Amino acid sequence: MIGIFDSGIGGLSVWREIARQLPGENTLYLADQAHVPYGYRSMDEIRQFCISIVDFLLEQGAGIIVVACNAASAAALHYLRGLYPDVPFVGMEPAVKPAAGSTKTGIVGVIATQTTFQGQLFAGLIAQYGNSVKVMTSIGHGLVETVEAGKLDTPETDILLKKCVSPLISAGADQLVLGCTHYPFLIPAIKKLTGPGVSIIDPAPAVALQVARVMKQRDLLNRCDRKGGHVFFTSGRAEAFWECIQRLVPCKSDMPEACAVCWSNGRLCRL
Ligand code: DGL
Repeated sequence: MIGIFDSGIGGLSVWREIARQLPGENTLYLADQAHVPYGYRSMDEIRQFCISIVDFLLEQGAGIIVVACNAASAAALHYLRGLYPDVPFVGMEPAVKPAAGSTKTGIVGVIATQTTFQGQLFAGLIAQYGNSVKVMTSIGHGLVETVEAGKLDTPETDILLKKCVSPLISAGADQLVLGCTHYPFLIPAIKKLTGPGVSIIDPAPAVALQVARVMKQRDLLNRCDRKGGHVFFTSGRAEAFWECIQRLVPCKSDMPEACAVCWSNGRLCRL
C-alpha cells in the first residue's frame, strides 16, 4: 500500500496523479487537518507530526510513504529517511529544475508557504540553479486556508492570488512553480492572472512517476489486474473531508472509505 500524507487536502493533487498512473495500487491518504496549515509552524513541530503520521501509516500497512506536502518535506524528509532507514520515502520539492530548463526570460517564479522557503531543500535548489536563472519567490499567504475552505474561485481567492503571483509575472517570470500541493486546485484562478505566456508547473506527475520507479525497484508493485482500493483518513472532520474528496478528486475505486483519526498524546489513533 502507498501511504500518502499532507497537512490537509492539498496532497490530493498528488494522490490523483498516483491513482491515475498506478491504477492497480492500494492507497492510504492522511490529511492532518487538525494541524493545517503547517506553513507557519516550526520545523521541529512539523517533524513531530510527521513521525506520528508515518508510524500510523506503517501500522495500517503502508510499504512506501509519499510526503505529499512541500512544507513537511522541507522540515522532515531528510530526518524521516534517517529515522526509518528501511522505508522508502518520496517527497516534494519545488520544481525549479524543469522551470530553469524551460524559461525563455531567465526568470522563474516560485510560490509556496514560508516553511518551504526556509528549508535546506530549497536552499539546495537555489545553490544548484540560482546562478543560471533568476529565481523569485513569493509566499502564498492565506492560500492553503482558502483551498481548505473550498474557496477555489472566489473574489477573496483572486485578491490573495494577485498579491502573491502578480509581482512575479510583472518582474518577467515565464515559469510559475507551484511549491505547495494545495495550489494545483487554484490553477484556473491562477491562469486568469498569468495569461497564456506563462507555464504553470505542477510537480504531481513527476512525483507519481518517481513513486512508480521506486516501487518497481523495490518490487512493491501489485501484480494483479484489479483496481486499487483507497482509504482516506483525516484528523479533522470526516464528513467535510469526504465532500472535498468527491468534489476535488472524484474517486472511481469500488469502495473508497473515509475514516476519522484523532490525536491522542502525540499519536494518531483510528476512531
Ligand atoms: N500542502 C502543503 C504544502 O505542500 C501545505 C502546507 C501548509 O499546511 O501550510 O506545503
